[in-house]
Amino acid sequence: MEQDETLNKIEVRNLKKSYVERRSKKRFLSQCEPQEDCKVLDGLDFSIPAGCFACFIGPSGCGKSTMFRIISGFEKPSSGTVLIEGKPVTGPSNRHVCVFQEDGLFPWLTARQNIAMGLTNAAEEARDEVEEYLELVGLSGFGDHYPHELSGGMRRRAEVARALITNPEILFMDEPFGALDFVTRLQMREEMVNVHQMFDMTILFITHDIDEALQLGDKVIMLSDRPATVAWDLDLDFPHPRDLTAGPLKDLRKEIYRKMGLHLAL
Ligand SMILES: Nc1ncnc2c1ncn2[C@@H]1O[C@H](COP(=O)(O)OP(=O)(O)OP(=O)(O)O)[C@@H](O)[C@H]1O
Ligand SMILES: [Mg+2]
Repeated sequence: MEQDETLNKIEVRNLKKSYVERRSKKRFLSQCEPQEDCKVLDGLDFSIPAGCFACFIGPSGCGKSTMFRIISGFEKPSSGTVLIEGKPVTGPSNRHVCVFQEDGLFPWLTARQNIAMGLTNAAEEARDEVEEYLELVGLSGFGDHYPHELSGGMRRRAEVARALITNPEILFMDEPFGALDFVTRLQMREEMVNVHQMFDMTILFITHDIDEALQLGDKVIMLSDRPATVAWDLDLDFPHPRDLTAGPLKDLRKEIYRKMGLHLAL
């Protein structure tokens, strides 16, 4: 068992999190009585090997973002453990970078300056690096634009570049492309496949989009409704680009829809 743990980049063991319901009256949607411990995560267990692109899906409000905040060290669990390279997480690390669902660029800085914020060294040679990353995410020529002068997709690209330039060991992405239009989302998906092949990093990626998870993931972890448990831990050993309309991926897609309580004709 111990040997296995050293092979994995991340080990999550019996992770539980509850919040105290502070409101004095029971709310319509809340399953918790006032002042009661409101269970969000109910014993999560999974392992992420180094270099894995792990996608997480699950119903809205089941605790995905909470789980990310705990694994990335921003929040403490109620019980259970998170090990990164066999060591318990005690707080955030500059080797682990998060890209959140909301716009995270500094509005008073240009795209170039935002990306440079990912660097600790402000030296002259850093400039070339910033230009390289602008090019990598297709933003060459837009370095001097402020966030409000960029489209939603471009802002996401700048955020991805700012995360990548730090050369993180673990990249956490919480529904990073949720607010983008369909075509831009497909483009970003392709870019993420390329990024993962180019950089030696472990990626944890939350999405509501089942197809996105199936196209990107080496692993798809499906969480149940709150309080969340792991409903399905699925390894996907298929080459890219992936066709979801045929073969075993088509069947897996159907099965995920079914497990999520969706009965669409697919
Ligand atoms: N700081 C907090 N205090 C109290 N309750 C919280 C806190 N943070 C999260 N919650 C509750 O925990 C539950 C899970 O929230 P979380 O944001 O992790 O869900 P999620 O799966 O990321 O949802 P979504 O898919 O909509 O982003 C929600 O019911 C939320 O109200
Ligand atoms: Mg969330």
